[in-house]
Amino acid sequence: MHAGAEKVFQRFFRTGKTSIFLSYRLLLIFGRFTQPFFALTQDTRFINSISIVPFSSIPYREGSVIQDNYYETDDQIAVYSEFHYGTEYFDVAIYPKRCAELCLSFMDGRRKERSLDLGCAVGRSTFELARGFDSVTGLDFSRGFIRVAVEMKEKGLIQYALPEEGELVSHHEKRLAEFGLADTQNKVTFRQGDAQDLDPSLTDYNLIFAGNLIDRLPNPAQFLTHIHERLRIGGLLIITSPYTWLPDFTPREKWIGGFIKDGQPFTTQDGMTGLLSPCFELIDDTHQVPFVIRETRRKFQHTIAAVTVWERVN
Ligand SMILES: C[S@@+](CC[C@H](N)C(=O)[O-])C[C@H]1O[C@@H](n2cnc3c(N)ncnc32)[C@H](O)[C@@H]1O
Repeated sequence: MHAGAEKVFQRFFRTGKTSIFLSYRLLLIFGRFTQPFFALTQDTRFINSISIVPFSSIPYREGSVIQDNYYETDDQIAVYSEFHYGTEYFDVAIYPKRCAELCLSFMDGRRKERSLDLGCAVGRSTFELARGFDSVTGLDFSRGFIRVAVEMKEKGLIQYALPEEGELVSHHEKRLAEFGLADTQNKVTFRQGDAQDLDPSLTDYNLIFAGNLIDRLPNPAQFLTHIHERLRIGGLLIITSPYTWLPDFTPREKWIGGFIKDGQPFTTQDGMTGLLSPCFELIDDTHQVPFVIRETRRKFQHTIAAVTVWERVN
């Protein structure tokens, strides 16, 4: 289906209305059989003409919209496939693997029945968490990312074309078995969804891991004030993030830190502490995890994420 049409339907999806969601799914199925027609009608006129609800009547919902299809592009899917299953660059450990190891070390001596990996992207941390958990659900808003994760679970292998320079790409194939993760296939489930509007069935977890998610949410405060509802008392919420707030993902007025407040620097950890303290105790903030994302053969992002570990006490 044409990307513009998908973008519009994705906005509909974010209204949270079941009927609209069903329409969206039906149109996706319809789109599979009408590819040439869609390709010929790449304008908003067409999109408006098939809209079931006119744009002006879509209600604004707190926390909805903002980031469009950034994590749906083929380039991002390939870059994240490499980030999760590819090479270690500059001796920096594979980030989702390292994060999952840290999570499992914090879960030492605690029950490890159910875990939720929010913003799991193409799924490496979900598989890694399943080394220690009975069951792990990986959830991401990007359908493209979830498709890769499901392929890895079902076929045990993925293939992707990595940007090299300009239009040149290199082809890669990765197998779950090469990471010693073949045994985890039956313990993981992947689903597309919105971390800010979770399905009621996603609850009763011993661990919720949110890796590099909070600074990509339209309304992180809403997420943080509701996430305890999904954790058992005594369960852990582990948040990793480089706190790179960008208005493209989170409107400035929704940032939870990274600004001056009452004449003083107010950090993201200050913001998280305020929002989480009614239900959580901070049990560790001493770890940092570096990561390297390869964009092309000659361009890399080197970032350092902070790790905070919160225990649900109320
Ligand atoms: C910076 S990436 C981090 C991905 C992964 N945790 C990692 O560390 O490699 C942010 C991820 O959050 C996902 N995401 C953004 N908004 C989301 C939302 N509202 N609900 C669920 N996932 C979301 C994106 O699709 C993307 O996969």
